[in-house]
Amino acid sequence: MKRVITYGTFDLLHYGHINLLKRAKELGDYLIVCLSDDEFNRTKKKAQCYFGYEERKSHLEAIRYVDLVIPEKSWNQKIHDIHLYHVDVFVMGDDWEGKFDFLKQYCEVVYLPRTVEISTTQIKSDLGGGYGRVLNPSDTEDEV
Ligand code: CTP
Repeated sequence: MKRVITYGTFDLLHYGHINLLKRAKELGDYLIVCLSDDEFNRTKKKAQCYFGYEERKSHLEAIRYVDLVIPEKSWNQKIHDIHLYHVDVFVMGDDWEGKFDFLKQYCEVVYLPRTVEISTTQIKSDLGGGYGRVLNPSDTEDEV
């Protein structure tokens, strides 16, 4: 069995993500998605995620190409994950081209072309600020 792993945030799941996951799965038999948890995201992303970890995880688990979702908690867990899950292929979108070449001593490293003209950042920007999510309704009670 050929095992493939990929890493990301996958907030507001969109067709760019689906394309990436489909092609990643085609590189092997079993696809693991290492999904950044909320704490790691706060250090990594400029904007806060719309969906929390458990929601993003359940969206990914509903996709036929995804076999397992595990948490990403730090930048430096990749070598450990590759060994623990017996990974054969490490996959990222080509916005990361070259950044993970140091993993080539442990497994195959593949950068897939990104799907053009779509990103979570773009969706958020297109929708503007008016669509912000109310995470805790009690926070807004006084604003009416
Ligand atoms: N990805 C892709 N094509 C896109 C958007 C994302 O192939 N149009 C890939 C990324 O290269 C990465 C994975 O999907 O390997 C997860 O990316 P993520 O950063 O979660 O998604 P983005 O939409 O790029 O989110 P953001 O705008 O917040 O960076």
